[in-house]
Amino acid sequence: DGSESSAPQQAQVVAVHPAVEPLSYLLGTWRGQGEGGFPTINSFKYGEQLNFSHPGNKPVIAYSQKTWKLNSGEPMHAESGYWRPKPDGTIEVVIAQSTGLVEVQVKFNAPSCSTSYMFLKGTYDAEEKVVKLHSELVGNASKVREITRVFKLVNEELVYVVEMATSLNSLQPHLKASLTKL
Ligand code: HEM
Repeated sequence: DGSESSAPQQAQVVAVHPAVEPLSYLLGTWRGQGEGGFPTINSFKYGEQLNFSHPGNKPVIAYSQKTWKLNSGEPMHAESGYWRPKPDGTIEVVIAQSTGLVEVQVKFNAPSCSTSYMFLKGTYDAEEKVVKLHSELVGNASKVREITRVFKLVNEELVYVVEMATSLNSLQPHLKASLTKL
């Protein structure tokens, strides 16, 4: 009689979970440009798209990122993961970098840019709209010792800085970018 279809229909009613509410300003798709550098490499510019989505009534935000070379559109680094904000203002983030990264490394001859997963912890401030993360664990990285990431909403733009420490260099910027919501 069709009554069994009511459960899946109810499941489609998506509410923002209270744990995600303080970061709901992130939800959506962002696009912009960034610059990368480090003492040991040539600086470069890139295009970037970020997506933050909240698939279902769970205390988690799904995150995905892709980047490309500004002049050619050729893909660069891509990554995805989950952000788990807690009601006490702390946040945990797990990020995996795609196997695409391996292809990118080959293309750019950059086997050193080889982090493939990371676990970050930090805090968020819903008033200031800032999220600060630092690595607890960096996996499968030959050179990376530490990573910090700060995301901040400034005049409707999402601005971030990624810093890293390697075996040779202390913690300093690798990436900065500025994105607007589509
Ligand atoms: C180089 C890590 C994200 C593009 C590097 C290096 C490391 C690294 C360790 C080598 C530095 C050295 O040799 O001293 C990371 C980490 C990232 C990240 C941990 C994320 C948290 C990105 C992104 C892009 C990118 C998003 C592109 C938009 C590059 C490029 C190089 C590089 C082009 C230089 C390659 C070369 O000239 O040999 N990265 N990277 N990286 N990275 Fe990243």
